[in-house]
Amino acid sequence: MASYNLKVNGKEKTVNIDDDTPLLWVLRDELDLVGTKYGCGIGQCGACTVHVDGVAMRSCSVPASSLTDSEITTIEGLSTEKLSPVQEAWKELDVPQCGYCQAGQIMTATSFLKQNPNPDNQDIRNAMHGNICRCASYNRIEKAVALAAK
Ligand code: FES
Repeated sequence: MASYNLKVNGKEKTVNIDDDTPLLWVLRDELDLVGTKYGCGIGQCGACTVHVDGVAMRSCSVPASSLTDSEITTIEGLSTEKLSPVQEAWKELDVPQCGYCQAGQIMTATSFLKQNPNPDNQDIRNAMHGNICRCASYNRIEKAVALAAK
């Protein structure tokens, strides 16, 4: 165990963790940021997606100790005073069903739209295809990403 300083949602946090503790568990267990979900733990489902320096990353697959120089953003830090355009689109189209994967979906969509603000439907499908939804809300997800891009 060692002490690490992390910047999460704009705040400095000090955590005592093992070198190989995945960021996901630091967020959930040490910092009580439980909006980030555990799905598979092996980088395959996207439920644990957060932003590291603005880029979508699977928090189950990266040691928090490697991120001391990075800005980490979780779903809790995505917007402060009002919902982000992606969150507004999600709300307007009533995207979630069970909701479990949705934080990861929104984090992936937000990062994607920063890189490609004017995507076509195939771009959206390609960007989102690695985020699995057990309720198969893919159609609404794709429409919400397109709506957020407008
Ligand atoms: Fe990280 Fe599935 S829990 S990708």
